[in-house]
Amino acid sequence: MKLDEFRSRFPIFKRRVYVNSCSQGALSIDVDEAMRAFLDSWHESGSPWEMWVDQVERLRARFAASIGAEVDEIAVMPSASAGINAVASALSFDGRRSRVVIGDFEFPTMAQIWLAQERRGASIRRAQASPASPDRLPVRSVRRGDRRAHADRSRDARLLPQRPQDRHRRSRGNLS
Ligand SMILES: Cc1ncc(COP(=O)(O)O)c(C=O)c1O
Repeated sequence: MKLDEFRSRFPIFKRRVYVNSCSQGALSIDVDEAMRAFLDSWHESGSPWEMWVDQVERLRARFAASIGAEVDEIAVMPSASAGINAVASALSFDGRRSRVVIGDFEFPTMAQIWLAQERRGASIRRAQASPASPDRLPVRSVRRGDRRAHADRSRDARLLPQRPQDRHRRSRGNLS
């Protein structure tokens, strides 16, 4: 499919320059149709569970093939935050690998999910943006001692400010 053809599947592009792709992307006619099909099936068949499970399995297989993964390596989650939460809460922090390195650019839900693991024994380290180039995260800011740490690579264009009151609440263990 050519780029123009692909873009023509998003009606809003005819009227707007769409930049809100991080949280609610432009709606394509394909997604519009799929959402209507879902609502129609709800009206007509109630809960056609097997049909939708089959659709999810087909989605997993197609997505796995598109990134060269095995089907059982793909989990379909309702959101990125739910996915990270499932991963974070499945990790054990009572052994040697208890450090998690996050960056100054984490999306707020990502950072808060990791910070909530502190009460489970995780030690959260923050790789800080350089004051000289505050929009960059220098790799060297992840200290050598953190090499065995888990690293959350999700990034966001916005800085997550570490306000003094947050620091205080975090040290008291009541910020999650
Ligand atoms: C960079 C980034 N990470 C994580 C999220 C959270 O995604 P979700 O709403 O799917 O939990 C967003 C949402 O906009 C995001 O932009």
